[in-house]
Amino acid sequence: MAKTYSIAIDGPAGAGKSTIAKALAKELGYQYVDTGAIYRTVAYFLDLLGVSPKDVDGVERYIDELNVDIQYDENGKQHMIMNGMDVSDEIRTQDISQKASLVSAHKVVRDVLLDMQRDVAKKHNVIMDGRDIGTVVLPNATVKIFLTASAEVRAKRRTDELLAKGQKADYEQTLKDIQQRDYQDSHRPIAPLKQAEDAVLLDTSDLDITGVLEAMKKIIAEKIAL
Ligand code: DC
Repeated sequence: MAKTYSIAIDGPAGAGKSTIAKALAKELGYQYVDTGAIYRTVAYFLDLLGVSPKDVDGVERYIDELNVDIQYDENGKQHMIMNGMDVSDEIRTQDISQKASLVSAHKVVRDVLLDMQRDVAKKHNVIMDGRDIGTVVLPNATVKIFLTASAEVRAKRRTDELLAKGQKADYEQTLKDIQQRDYQDSHRPIAPLKQAEDAVLLDTSDLDITGVLEAMKKIIAEKIAL
């Protein structure tokens, strides 16, 4: 099989990983993989069954009944398929964000999803975003970037994004949610959110999207001919 390139982008919730990764994937012709969406699908599945995301036994009992599939449409948009049903929109709520964060702490969940993520990277050049891509999923990734911004900036961006879509948004509540997820994601014992030793840190607090894209391309160009 031909050698594939992989770009791992990790960082806390709301750092802009998916917006940036999507744009870069399009430009470079890479497959974009949003791994958070996979955890969200697991959380949504368990939620429908009424299983608490903290219930280890319940999670272990039902996880085998879930079949998760990632599909891409003609525009390259990632769709999450849960037991044959497209749940890409349903998994985007604030409630599922929190539940995905809790569900992702279980070893059984992380084990099931690990091979799935690695398989995609074996077959395609990928830009994969998440929390543990550079540390656990793709430790040999060609490029590793840790994208972050202050919690306040991330909360402001998220609030503005929701308001622009005509949805309700409360800055203080969003900030609290982000801080809680930061804590949960970085304090779990297995594959916590942390910067890989060989990842390049990029703080986007004072950058706009164009600025972040330029900075990312510079980092990538040091490892891959663009
Ligand atoms: O990126 P996101 O906000 O859609 O991710 C939702 C949750 O999934 C996040 O709070 C933690 C978990 N997650 C993870 O544990 N590991 C990943 N690689 C991606 C997401």
